[in-house]
Amino acid sequence: MENLVEALVEHSLSAQNLAVGYDQREIIHDLSVRIPTGKITVIVGANACGKSTLLKTLARLLKPSKGTVTLDGKSIQQVSTREVATKLGLLPQSPTAPEGITVADLVGRGRYPHQGWIRQWTKADDEAVAGAMESTDVLEIADRPIDELSGGQRQRVWIAMALAQETDILLLDEPTTFLDLTHQFEVLDLLVDLNQRDDRTIVLVLHDLNQACRFGDHLIAMKNGDIVCEGKPSEVITEAVVQDVFGLAVKVIPDPVAGSPMVVPIGRHTTRQDETPSPVANPAAKALAASAAANGVCRPTDR
Ligand SMILES: Nc1ncnc2c1ncn2[C@@H]1O[C@H](COP(=O)(O)OP(=O)(O)OP(=O)(O)O)[C@@H](O)[C@H]1O
Ligand SMILES: [Mg+2]
Repeated sequence: MENLVEALVEHSLSAQNLAVGYDQREIIHDLSVRIPTGKITVIVGANACGKSTLLKTLARLLKPSKGTVTLDGKSIQQVSTREVATKLGLLPQSPTAPEGITVADLVGRGRYPHQGWIRQWTKADDEAVAGAMESTDVLEIADRPIDELSGGQRQRVWIAMALAQETDILLLDEPTTFLDLTHQFEVLDLLVDLNQRDDRTIVLVLHDLNQACRFGDHLIAMKNGDIVCEGKPSEVITEAVVQDVFGLAVKVIPDPVAGSPMVVPIGRHTTRQDETPSPVANPAAKALAASAAANGVCRPTDR
C-alpha cells in the first residue's frame, strides 16, 4: 500500500529564496526556482555565473546559507542521504573516480543507493548497469581502468553511472563536454528517450545554445548568480537576452531541422564566403576548388 501511495506522488524539485556561497563569498543571493516535473530543463549562462553552484545546491551537495530546497514536498535537509540518492542523481561538472577503478565497477556504484543491509545485489542491478552501459556505448571498454580512457570515453562512463542510478530526477552538469558531435547528439537523444519513456525530470547545464533550444522544454538563463529569464526556448533565446546574458551580438534564426531558435554569433571576423566567386559561374574558381579537393583541402580559405 505504501509503495502504491509513493508511486502516485509525483516527484518535484524546487528552491525558495536561496543564498549560496563559498567561504565568505556569496554567489547566489536570493534565487527561487521550480523545476518543471517530467520536463527537460536546460540552464544556460556565462562561465562563473553560478550554474554548477545552483545544481549542487539542488542536489544537496552544498548547503544554502538562506532559503530551502524542497524535494517531493520536504526540505531536502530533512531527507536522508540514501533517500535523496534514490530520487535524484547528479553528474557533476568535474567528477573524480577512485584510482584504478574499472568502467563496470564505476557504473555499478550508481546502484549503491539501492543496496542495503537486507537488499543485496540483484539481477535488476545487473540489468540497470548493462542497460546504462549499452545506451552510452561503453560496453566494449567495461574492463578498462577509468584513468586510461580518453576524455570523451570517461564522460560517457560518468553518464552511464548517473543513468544506472535510475532516479526520477537527473541533474547533469555539462554532460556533453569532451564528446564528439555524434556522441553529443546520442547522449541528448537518449535523455529525451528517458524523459518521454519514464517521465523523468531532467536538468542539464549546456553551453551550446542551439542544443539547449533543440532539447530543452524549459530554459533558465542565469547571470551573476540570478535567473534573468526562464520559459520556452523561443522566449529565452532572443537576441536581446543573449546580448544581456553573454554580452554577445547574435542573430537568432529558425533551426532548419527543428524550427527551434538557432543562434548565429556575429563576432568580429568571418571568412567572407560571399566574396568567393561561385565555382559554377567562374571557371577559375572551379579549377581552384577541384585542385583543393585533390589536395584534401575542403575549401580554399580566403581571409
Ligand atoms: N569550490 C569553490 N570554492 C570557491 N569558489 C568557488 C568554488 N566553486 C565555484 N566557485 C566560484 O563560484 C562562482 C560560480 O561558479 P560556478 O562553478 O557555479 O559557475 P558556472 O556557472 O558553473 O561556470 P562554468 O560555466 O565555468 O562551469 C565562480 O566565481 C567560482 O569561482
Ligand atoms: Mg559549471
